[in-house]
Amino acid sequence: MPNFYITTPIYYVNDLPHLGHAYTTILADVMARYHRAIGDQVHFLTGTDEHGLKVQQAAQERGADPQAHTDEYVRRFQDLWQRLHISNDDFIRTTEERHKGVVQALLQDLYDKDELYKTEYEGYYSVSDERFITAREAESGQFKQIETVKETNWFFRMSDYQERLVAHIEAQPKFILPVSRRNEVLGFLRQPLRDLCISRPKSRLTWGIELPFDSDYVTYVWFDALTNYISAIGYGSDEERFNKWWPVNMHLIGKDILITHSVYWPTMLMAAGVSLPKTIFAHGWWLMGGDKMSKTAGNVVQPLDLIEHVGVDPVRYFLMREMVLGQDATFTPQQFMQRYNADLANDLGNLTHRISKFIRRHFDGRIPPPARPTDPAPEAALQQAAADVVAAVPTLVEDMRLHEALGAIMELVRKVNRYLEQTQPWKQIKQDREATGNTLYVAAEALRIAAQLLHPVMPNRMDSIRQLIGAGGVNLADLAWGALLPGVEVGEPRAPFPRLEALPQAATDIAGAEDDAGRASWEDFEKLDLRIAEVLAAERLPGADKLLKLRVALDDGERQIVAGIAPQYTPESLIGKRLVLVANLQPATIRGTESQGMLLAAAGEQLVLATVDAADMAPGAKVG
Ligand code: ME8
Ligand code: MG
Repeated sequence: MPNFYITTPIYYVNDLPHLGHAYTTILADVMARYHRAIGDQVHFLTGTDEHGLKVQQAAQERGADPQAHTDEYVRRFQDLWQRLHISNDDFIRTTEERHKGVVQALLQDLYDKDELYKTEYEGYYSVSDERFITAREAESGQFKQIETVKETNWFFRMSDYQERLVAHIEAQPKFILPVSRRNEVLGFLRQPLRDLCISRPKSRLTWGIELPFDSDYVTYVWFDALTNYISAIGYGSDEERFNKWWPVNMHLIGKDILITHSVYWPTMLMAAGVSLPKTIFAHGWWLMGGDKMSKTAGNVVQPLDLIEHVGVDPVRYFLMREMVLGQDATFTPQQFMQRYNADLANDLGNLTHRISKFIRRHFDGRIPPPARPTDPAPEAALQQAAADVVAAVPTLVEDMRLHEALGAIMELVRKVNRYLEQTQPWKQIKQDREATGNTLYVAAEALRIAAQLLHPVMPNRMDSIRQLIGAGGVNLADLAWGALLPGVEVGEPRAPFPRLEALPQAATDIAGAEDDAGRASWEDFEKLDLRIAEVLAAERLPGADKLLKLRVALDDGERQIVAGIAPQYTPESLIGKRLVLVANLQPATIRGTESQGMLLAAAGEQLVLATVDAADMAPGAKVG
């Protein structure tokens, strides 16, 4: 079984995590999940960069002790990763003993090999980038928080490795990717490389790892941080573990930290006699889309806020689908909504719903067996299309063309939709039940393959699609046609990606949207989709004493509703009741649980749910 070790940058805990951090980490997670799905042994590392001036200053500004500050901020990252379904195998903090020990051992090793020397240096230091910069760079306007320093410091003889590094980059086309970044580094290396300052005097900075051979100094934060990639896997302490994972398959980074990763880090490793990473991949920048996101327009939608409204997986999908790896990408809420509705709600969601609903209605809810088709051509074409995508995806992932891989998988999904339009099972069922069963088998099987290929990007939603089409038990690695087993039960039909009618608006916007006349127009009323919903199940929402979570049936599937009716209604008393539901409200997340609609109730001192007692009004019937 091949091993696959992938890392993200370790993020500074001077600030809260944002979209950029989330993006890199999700991308690494997708790669890790993909490699696990194809049977590789995976080690996925992320973590936090907790030393240095930037963090020390952030702590000072909050009047906090640096350790207390980092302990608090690291949790924000860890919590976000949990929310985003990040499947990292390890999380390293540079303040951990296991890391500090390795940094000191590495420094001692380089010191013993005469790779380090002490000298006076005068120049500029950019605190925001945590590195020394040249006078030219200082004037370029690209660096912030510039300090002039005149210090005696410890230096690493990095310049000695310039030629070896250039030769390595030239000999290994995959060492730095994409090619544009590789050229950027080679361009940088056309200038003479200077030695690297690897210390800061304690008079300036105390928040760091002390040099083992000079207690007046702490370690320069980048020397400290880069070492995380080997300290976390047991460098110097657990040889077997280290050799299992090193050299790393991929250091995933943003383009801002290209030079530190492809110049400082490899030369440090050369000096220590450690082999070099296989690939350093630098992705581009997420930019916030134009003035449409301005605060005064009242429609500020932060991508991470979208998670509250649409769930995690659609956001993961959007980020992976929209960014051409290596280039910059822009986020706009409009683009998000278009992408969501077109790809997820329409193409993928409706298809799943259609298939499971049809199988429930006409085949007792069990996957029908393959049989002789009425016309073999459409089936053969779809099977071929599925095989082509299965064959194409590994190369696209290998080449880091994830957006293309996703494009190809979604094209397959659209082909399944077209196949159903061609074969028309809703007509076919009146003539030939067996052939119709085959049609559904073929459609479900092609959808299963698409869902498995999409699984690394949207693990939770694809698990539920797999359940809905009776493929829950099929191994994710099984992409060969025919793995779907006839007779397996499909799930209760439901739309895995409810259509988005509008994006959540900022709170200020909602407050401003008052109807001055206080009356609803007919149009306003027409907008409401009121329907009869039958309660199938009800339970208390843990940790919320007023809330009940209900599962209700309409004619087109089930919904989950969260309602503040626990003081008045016990869960048992509601089962079987037919209530009035506002069915087209945009879903809301209440205490972390999604509510797909709102129940009508008369509320005063008492609260009474609006019910319908005509027994033959079927669930789903329109009210109004
Ligand atoms: O540089 N778009 O940490 P950092 C895409 N501690 N990615 C973005 C982004 C954006 N707009 N903004 C940030 C550090 N990123 C060091 C790393 S590693 C040994 C030490 C992502 O908190 C991107 O991955 O400033 C970038 O490289 C990283 O966050 C920088 O995070
Ligand atoms: Mg940064």
